Amino acid sequence: MARARTQHRCRECGATTPRWAGRCPTCEAWASLEEEAVPAAPVGGSLRSVRSSGTAPVPITDLDADAGTPVATGIDELDRVLGGGLVPGSVTLVGGEPGIGKSTLLLQAVASLAARGATCLLVCAEESAQQVRRRAERLGAATAGVWLVAETDLPAIRAAADQVRPDVMVVDSIQTVWDPDADSAPGSVTQVRSCAHALAALAKASDTAVILVGHVTKDGSLAGPRVLEHLVDTVLTFDGERHHALRLLRSVKHRFGSTGELGLFEMSDGGLVGVPDPSGLFLGDRRQGTPGSAVFPAMEGYRPLLVEVQALVAESNLPAPRRSASGFDSGRLGLLLAVLHRRAALTVGTYDVYVSAVGGVRLAEPGADLAVCMALASAVLDRALPSDLVVVGEVGLGGEIRQVSHSSRRLAEAARLGFTRALVPATAPHVPGMRNVTVTTLAEAVTRVLPRDGAGVLPD
Ligand code: TYD
Ligand code: MG
Repeated sequence: MARARTQHRCRECGATTPRWAGRCPTCEAWASLEEEAVPAAPVGGSLRSVRSSGTAPVPITDLDADAGTPVATGIDELDRVLGGGLVPGSVTLVGGEPGIGKSTLLLQAVASLAARGATCLLVCAEESAQQVRRRAERLGAATAGVWLVAETDLPAIRAAADQVRPDVMVVDSIQTVWDPDADSAPGSVTQVRSCAHALAALAKASDTAVILVGHVTKDGSLAGPRVLEHLVDTVLTFDGERHHALRLLRSVKHRFGSTGELGLFEMSDGGLVGVPDPSGLFLGDRRQGTPGSAVFPAMEGYRPLLVEVQALVAESNLPAPRRSASGFDSGRLGLLLAVLHRRAALTVGTYDVYVSAVGGVRLAEPGADLAVCMALASAVLDRALPSDLVVVGEVGLGGEIRQVSHSSRRLAEAARLGFTRALVPATAPHVPGMRNVTVTTLAEAVTRVLPRDGAGVLPD
């Protein structure tokens, strides 16, 4: 008799390969391949099964346009990221590091939904029902309409869903759920995928909105990540610095709306509290008059958010001086240092360089370039930028300053928070209460704001 055929699946990217290797041939992750059985081919060949499994086509006008309408959870910052709320029959994956507050957020969400009349089932696959109950008491989230089941076994979870018939079901976490029919060890990619598959099918069949909690690994990726991303409709990430109270919720994939919206929470003794007006949040601890600091009006989704960029240069005793960026791409930092050197005659040479976006924010937009450059220039020259100045602009390799999208939104928000001057590219719009200091090159920006003879040439 022939032996059951096996293949190897990568825990990181989900690719399969017939032979085991120390490194995944697709994504080049080390030691990520796991053995699994090759799924049996469908009887009758794949073509026939494709043909026979479809549902009948219907005219698009006959479809119920309201069917996919999101239902608000009542947690405003969560609804903002979801584009209104949870869609019945959809699957949402919430990823985040252990301890960041995923269980807290979802407990608050189900309590709020239940208070609005929804039936919710919370599957605790990591904690006992008593533990969750105690936390719910503390959060004031012990609401009728929230059902708990402490199970890790997939058939038992299915049975619980059959019994409760929930509108919303939270599975905390998907990595601890176990399918006895999947021929693989608990916690393996095959298990996680198989369980997520089954729960997605349950969501579609019963019109339940299913939320899966997924822990991420140290490097920030979900365990079995890309494998799960294909299976779900929405992927939310929950992060923040563990030692700060601030938590950021983002959607990285969303079939029912836009991605890029940011939800902000603060972790308090009473659970997570939404931060509805965050734009000035990160400026709270700013020390004015300190060299190496520039303020950038960032856009997070559709909301402007003022972020302080800090830079520090210090004599290095390393053969290759350090270039460290936090909340900013380190490759981009290297590029900006080169542009500063060649186009604005500012050199960091043998100094260590540190750049950081304050408050655990990630600055991914090129519009932050000029602010990073000005923070660096200010650090190198050891002179502070004016405290009422915001900086917006992308920096090109030629040292030219380029236009940035949503400039009027950014500048209006900065004006609202009391900033009166903006260092901007020549094409920037005028906004009431804000005086534009327009520059076309990085060298010009540095001389206008930080003149070497010390005399200010900015308008007062
Ligand atoms: P938790 O939701 O259990 O995190 P996760 O499910 O992502 O692992 O949150 C754990 C942390 O949150 C824990 O360190 C304590 C803190 N916390 C508060 O500060 N206040 C609260 O009201 C709650 C419930 C938790
Ligand atoms: Mg948890």
